[in-house]
Amino acid sequence: MRLDRFLSNLPRFNRQAARHLLASGNVRLDGRISRDGRSEVSVFSRVEMSDGEVLQAGKCARYFMLHKPVGVVSATAHPEHRTVLDLLDEPDKHDLHLAGRLDLNTSGLLLITNDGQWSRRVTLPKSKQPKVYLVETEDPIEPACVEVFARGLYFAFEDLVTLPAQLQILAPRQARLTLHEGRYHQVKRMFGHFQNKVIGLHRLSVGAIQLDPALAPGQYRVLTTEEVASFASA
Ligand code: URA
Repeated sequence: MRLDRFLSNLPRFNRQAARHLLASGNVRLDGRISRDGRSEVSVFSRVEMSDGEVLQAGKCARYFMLHKPVGVVSATAHPEHRTVLDLLDEPDKHDLHLAGRLDLNTSGLLLITNDGQWSRRVTLPKSKQPKVYLVETEDPIEPACVEVFARGLYFAFEDLVTLPAQLQILAPRQARLTLHEGRYHQVKRMFGHFQNKVIGLHRLSVGAIQLDPALAPGQYRVLTTEEVASFASA
């Protein structure tokens, strides 16, 4: 919300007092005096009076990458399966959510955070972030897939044509596929169009964030500042 609104929502200030505090340089937002009532305040912002009195301490934003193993569900709770959150040894796990999902039998890069704005930037369809998958199929991959995937496939259920995807055939039954969206079971449905079953699916990257090869399945680490910032203005 806007800083002027944040201040006037506090029981001790009304709108006029909030305007006055701002104009007189009495409010610090994330360590800097802010006179602009339009500045954005999130749950992660620290808001103080200029004398140091804290109005909102600001939550600590947290960002992780997990190497999701096969057989673990991409959810925060599940009645039957272990969830990806069960793999995290972190406090306040109920604050965390997933920035995108992978199917139960898909492995690879999963991003987890408590920052809703950040995860929206990661997952927003219009940001068209590339997601790179390693695909293994039951039957040899037909070379025609390359052109058809690049042109886009019609998905009747959603009544849409998939965005151009790049397929690089690495071996008769193995390929690297880059998607710029995330439709339900998308990779499996794309190969399903060619009656070819996906028997292994592993996500290597999302946007500029690559799965750290040092992470074994089930392991995770905190994202670096650069990795977090790579989605700053997507
Ligand atoms: N496409 C799929 O079919 N499954 C996934 O988990 C991700 C993309």
